[in-house]
Amino acid sequence: MSHTSDPHVQRILILDFGSQYTQLIARGIRELNVYCEILPFDADIGRIKAFNPAGIVLSGGPATVTESDTPRADDEIFNLDCPVLGICYGMQTMAAQLGGEVETAKQREYGFAEVRPISTSPLIDGLHDRLDADGAGVLKVWMSHGDRVNTLPEGFRVLAVSENAPIAAIGNPDRRFFGVQFHPEVTHTNQGRAMMKRFVRDICGCTGDWTPANIIDGLLSRVTDEVGSDGVVLGLSGGVDSSVVAALLHRAIGDQLTCIFVDNGLLRQGEVKQVMETFKDGFGIRIVQVDASERFLEALSGIVDPEHKRRVIGSVFVDVFQEEADKIENICWLAQGTIYPDVIESAGTNTGKARVIKSHHNVGGIPDTLKLQLLEPLRELFKDEVRAVGVALGLPKSIVYRHPFPGPGLGVRILGEVRQEYADILRQADAIFLDELRRSDLYDSTSQAFAVFLPVRSVGVVGDNRSYEFVISLRAVETTDFMTADWKRLPYEVLARVSTRIINEVRSVSRVTYDISSKPPATIEWE
Ligand code: XMP
Repeated sequence: MSHTSDPHVQRILILDFGSQYTQLIARGIRELNVYCEILPFDADIGRIKAFNPAGIVLSGGPATVTESDTPRADDEIFNLDCPVLGICYGMQTMAAQLGGEVETAKQREYGFAEVRPISTSPLIDGLHDRLDADGAGVLKVWMSHGDRVNTLPEGFRVLAVSENAPIAAIGNPDRRFFGVQFHPEVTHTNQGRAMMKRFVRDICGCTGDWTPANIIDGLLSRVTDEVGSDGVVLGLSGGVDSSVVAALLHRAIGDQLTCIFVDNGLLRQGEVKQVMETFKDGFGIRIVQVDASERFLEALSGIVDPEHKRRVIGSVFVDVFQEEADKIENICWLAQGTIYPDVIESAGTNTGKARVIKSHHNVGGIPDTLKLQLLEPLRELFKDEVRAVGVALGLPKSIVYRHPFPGPGLGVRILGEVRQEYADILRQADAIFLDELRRSDLYDSTSQAFAVFLPVRSVGVVGDNRSYEFVISLRAVETTDFMTADWKRLPYEVLARVSTRIINEVRSVSRVTYDISSKPPATIEWE
């Protein structure tokens, strides 16, 4: 496989000063088909030079440049002959580091603001949301700052002004240094995406080679180089990330890959069949299917505490996985579906030291005794990119665009003790709910939806008889990052159909409720 199409050739570096929006900057740049990575603001200059950026973005951050010991970028980044875009704090530190001045404004500026371009620049020329009475362009932007630049560094000029931050955008086009006081990375800044495009494509000269086809090419050649003729084992859960890893590795190394698919008795209805049909029959991937449901249920017997349940499920998984992996010869690698947000959140790349992976991503912590090297081909990709790669590799949309499903499965959706009977009831109710969402064309616009089993009995009337049966709660949320979420305003008719069907079709359920709590304070899952 040739490296000539390696999409890593053109890269943007984001130095992170601690803004809550830093990931948005990275995702926005990737959406422009340009590769980028986030490093901490104090990244070593040697590491920055080795990264060889086509441009550098300095993120916003919570600190103030007016104090002496607050974050600064290495001054050397301004001598790399490389374009720099400073956003909010990033603009202020760039201004201060290059000899300008920053002051604490009397008034904080937070929320929408209108900005008027006052001189030409490749960053914002011709962009506007409306024209004022004089025919001049006005941009609607999102501001969030207390400090402001009041004296420009040499060679800079003011590009745009706003009422509260007279200096709203600055630039030194000769050196290709630009700064914006507002946040182009948030959707509230209407022309933000266009400005980011101007920066990475026009000013930094990136051609947009980070496309699914190129990503796949790069990943395939990297995997084949890394793995050689070794065997690789992968815990396939049927979730998006591990499914894409399976399809990718299968394309790269064929039968050197063995997937282990553990049925823990806590999967959704039809999931075992769907996974086996897709990967074994469809792709011809070598899969060991292990029915360990009894073992999981036995281990969970009598346990009611949610965290305790998670630990038990994780540890039985590890035992089963290890037993199966031990039976396969020549296995040197353990593949995992770690993706870039996991890497960022675990600060793995940020420190360059720890290789900590979110516990639910290494399926409960695969033990050292396996003595396998870790293969994480998706660790540079955002979820959208993982999905695009999955589609390009031929995975069905029903797998690539499915809602997230927690590692412990139905185990955290059956409140309290997990029993076979409860899992069977929940599976049926959950399948009806998802089926009705699909029929009403609401599945794709819902971020996550599922049923929850409540082991409390409630009185009802079935026929002429009094019943005393279980309760199912429905949960459907809308969210972009799963850190906060709002409950989905599902149409009453849909809720009514789901409720009627569950009560009619699922034995032992006589009441259905809809969860209308947002996160926070509630979480998406009930346990
Ligand atoms: P919460 O309930 O914390 O969930 O609001 C946020 C997202 O994470 C998923 N989730 C898990 N995923 N193992 C996982 O793999 C877990 O233990 C786990 N707990 C929650 C949840 O489904 C939602 O998408």
